[in-house]
Amino acid sequence: ASERPKLLYTVPTFQNPTGRTLPAGRRAAVAAVAARRGLWIVEDDPYGELRFEGERVPWIASYEGAGDRTVLLGSFSKVMAPGMRLGWMRAPAALRRACTVAKQAADLHTPTVNQLAAARYLADRDLDAHVARVAAEYGRRRDAMLAGIADALPEGSTWTRPEGGMFLWARLPGSRDTTELLRRVVEHDVAYVPGEPFHAGPPDRATLRLCFVTQTPQEIAEGLRRLGRALRD
Ligand SMILES: Cc1ncc(COP(=O)(O)O)c(C=O)c1O
Repeated sequence: ASERPKLLYTVPTFQNPTGRTLPAGRRAAVAAVAARRGLWIVEDDPYGELRFEGERVPWIASYEGAGDRTVLLGSFSKVMAPGMRLGWMRAPAALRRACTVAKQAADLHTPTVNQLAAARYLADRDLDAHVARVAAEYGRRRDAMLAGIADALPEGSTWTRPEGGMFLWARLPGSRDTTELLRRVVEHDVAYVPGEPFHAGPPDRATLRLCFVTQTPQEIAEGLRRLGRALRD
């Protein structure tokens, strides 16, 4: 109430960097506050399709009061091909014209060839089947990370257990600084993303993001062994 925000930007499903998902009750509450305060919501959802466990939670856009004030964003980057840099937007009609003008001012427009390639892919291929295959594999990789993480991180560390997406968020005990530690950790041929730059306010420097989708389960296990050795050193 004191800040009088005009807009809320949120990644409510398998958030980058934490992998957390906002539960249904909280989504309804966000929708209610937005309606009461006259707030726009930008619901950024590039990861929602990558669920390998649990039940899908409806988009904030589908809750009472949010439909005509939510811009829902999706991306083909995580489900089709990252090189396309192609996404989609579902927005109230009143906003679409302004968004088109803003996009044209920002980058003229998304290359037509990329758009046609994606349209052809959607027409000729079964994207849902592809996503189901990818999500199942990501689930196995998440399991591999959960299986090895307790041995890799110092006692007293905590971490999330994402039901989808690409990332797991961890916190080392005490006042360790993961940005500082990274310089020595990479000498062991393994890396993570320090948590510091993800904070909007004062950062918790003991946090880090681990990605579990790029490597195979065997590589993840080896990476965690290296991380464990590096942090013990
Ligand atoms: C929160 C968030 N939004 C959007 C994207 C996707 O952006 P793009 O569609 O440009 O690849 C990502 C990942 O790259 C992301 O983490």
